[in-house]
Amino acid sequence: MERILGIDVGATGIKGNLVDPVKGVVLEDRYKLKTPKDSTPKNVLATVNSIIDHFDWQGLPVGLGFPAIVQHGITRSASNVDKKWLDFSAQEFLQKGTGCPLTMVNDADAAGLAEIVFGQGKGIKGTVILLTLGTGIGSAIFVNGKLLPNTEMGHLKWKDKVLEKYMSNKVREINSQSWKTWGKEFSKGLAHIDFLFSPDVIILGGGISKNFDLYKKYLTGSKCPVVPAKMQNDAGIIGAAMSYIQK
Ligand code: BGC
Repeated sequence: MERILGIDVGATGIKGNLVDPVKGVVLEDRYKLKTPKDSTPKNVLATVNSIIDHFDWQGLPVGLGFPAIVQHGITRSASNVDKKWLDFSAQEFLQKGTGCPLTMVNDADAAGLAEIVFGQGKGIKGTVILLTLGTGIGSAIFVNGKLLPNTEMGHLKWKDKVLEKYMSNKVREINSQSWKTWGKEFSKGLAHIDFLFSPDVIILGGGISKNFDLYKKYLTGSKCPVVPAKMQNDAGIIGAAMSYIQK
């Protein structure tokens, strides 16, 4: 059995687990550490190394999802992480610093990959969008199973800022919004995305996907169905590991 360590770097937490990327399942209990407050490459590397140590995974393959544009191993944005990640050879830095063969992709692209192969997007012909809601909003778009990487729908212009500044899960928490208040706002974003891309389904990932039943009735904005990720919050870890074997 092939085993890869999947790591999902988020703005607040860094999670890891061993994954069977062929079956699309996690193999052990997930291990989660806080993202360092000062989320510089050096500090994030130290946390990633603690996860590698936890699984006793020195020198072995790692797939890592990261909350930024990741183009050919270079991080090209840094909305919710330290600005030192901007235009930074991140994959090479993490490979050297961990001593592990390592592939790095955008976190939402990773979650989307898991869902398109094993989850809610499996077998769907046409356009599938996955949105992952945490500190920011990430997106992945697939046409007949093929990913267009690094779309940033959370950064669509919205009022005087961008969409994620109005409707991410963090915004909901900071403003202590009810599911109804937040759901109605998020529904407007879904309507916009639905209008722009005419997807056949929108899948919601991130921590918020497990609470889907509490807000689904407010998500009336899109023509297409909106469903929670089958792998919920593990989608990012599983997809990160899958991206290692797809490289
Ligand atoms: C980042 C994306 C990321 C998303 C979710 C956004 O702020 O720009 O790259 O996918 O947050 O973490």
